[in-house]
Amino acid sequence: MKKLAVFASGTGTNFEAIARACKNGTLPAEVALMVCDKPGAAVIGRAREYGVETFVFNPKEYEGKAAYEAEIVRRLDEKGVDLVCLAGYMRIVGDTLLKAYDGKIINIHPSLLPAFRGANAVEQAVEYGVKVYGITIHWVNADLDGGRIIAQRAFPYEGSDPAEVHAIGQKIEHELYVQTINKLLCER
Ligand code: GAR
Repeated sequence: MKKLAVFASGTGTNFEAIARACKNGTLPAEVALMVCDKPGAAVIGRAREYGVETFVFNPKEYEGKAAYEAEIVRRLDEKGVDLVCLAGYMRIVGDTLLKAYDGKIINIHPSLLPAFRGANAVEQAVEYGVKVYGITIHWVNADLDGGRIIAQRAFPYEGSDPAEVHAIGQKIEHELYVQTINKLLCER
């Protein structure tokens, strides 16, 4: 059974989609660890519901990124994690984690990359007046939302309500993330 780690900072709907797919056998994998950098985040409760072990940390309690990433790497190694899935983890991954898990970290982003990198991608796209939105899953490297693209899905939207775009996009995210993880695990 392949081992996944999911990293999240917020609500955790993508975490839940992945954990559910593992539980019901859609994904031939186990979420071995959920890593969260926000001690009050809703995703922590979701992890508990699914019986997934968590590592929740407050970055301010560490000397810096290298220090907390060294702790993350230690825990990933301990679990024997095969693939790290960033799902709304709102931190730039640093050298310590990138070097240790080179070629094993993927991210989901709510835009058609390379457009609208970084935070508030949907709001940026609405502000720009785009008519075709989308979701991207990509390998993670040292550039912000910059790694090679693995999967993308586009959808048309003519309105100007970011909440509506988020709602449409999230349904797509949940399906596309599970499909993409499945494909990557089969290739490994
Ligand atoms: C998702 O929409 C994901 O695409 C986005 O955060 C949301 C997390 O939602 N990620 C980024 O913006 C990364 N730059 P969730 O906590 O409900 O899964």
